[in-house]
Amino acid sequence: MPPTNPHTTLQVPNSGALGALTPEEARLFEKLDLTRLPRHVAVIMDGNGRWAQQRHLPRVAGHRAGTKSARVTIETCARLKIEALTLYAFSVENWRRPKTETDFLMQLLREYLRKEMPLLQKNDIRMRFLGRTDELPQGVQDDVRDATERTSRNRGMVLCIALNYGGRAEIVDAMNAILAERNGHGRQERITEETLTRHMYTEGLPDPDLLIRTSGEMRVSNFLLWQIAYAEIFVTDTLWPDFNRTRLLEALVEFQRRERRYGGIREGQPEAHPHKPARVVGE
Ligand code: FPP
Repeated sequence: MPPTNPHTTLQVPNSGALGALTPEEARLFEKLDLTRLPRHVAVIMDGNGRWAQQRHLPRVAGHRAGTKSARVTIETCARLKIEALTLYAFSVENWRRPKTETDFLMQLLREYLRKEMPLLQKNDIRMRFLGRTDELPQGVQDDVRDATERTSRNRGMVLCIALNYGGRAEIVDAMNAILAERNGHGRQERITEETLTRHMYTEGLPDPDLLIRTSGEMRVSNFLLWQIAYAEIFVTDTLWPDFNRTRLLEALVEFQRRERRYGGIREGQPEAHPHKPARVVGE
């Protein structure tokens, strides 16, 4: 067989929305069942600093390069009609980094929102920001509000940017929101999982069913602690600035290869507890 040139592109049936694919992308795309895609993909974008270090560049060059991977991931997920994509852009712990780096990240985000607005609108993307955004510098808060407002009438994928986000902080905020709501109400109802879910930053969105982490670290890093209870976790050694459409398609193919049982049992297997049949969800 002649060697395939990775730079040639192919038109693959049903891949219309993605445009021309490289042979490697086409091979992965053909394995995908478009009816069983994850509803919500969450991504821990890690490895920008190492990517820059390997090239003897300042760390911030890695962050800038990372915006390209964000763009490809956002556009591909939107075109595949995935309902929600959440990107972990800045954690509550990230304030511990040198001020020059945190200032750069805030500036980069503002620049990104301005530059990418046409792409977001073209793809009918609605933006949401998850985290303690009221603690961000005023200029960032203004841009965050503006981006949310300008995309609020779009009806395609919801793009969540986790910004000044912490999973534990989110649970604390949800509990405080519940307490505040109940102040003045005589009747105290029990707090259920559903009550908490309704008060999370992600209210109204399905839980992520796929969590991608780049740069090989096997950690959850305080990301969506409540929501990833049943997520499939896909860790790739690829550093975030090298993450591309091929790596994303690989993650989606792997997601579909796994069996999702939510603590239940596989269909056709004897029940583990005869009096309390396990609920089998998923494939
Ligand atoms: C981790 O790399 C990445 C971040 C701190 C998030 C910032 C992400 C971007 C700037 C990508 C662009 C995204 C948007 C939405 C603007 P790291 O610095 O922790 O890498 P290291 O572990 O190699 O040091």
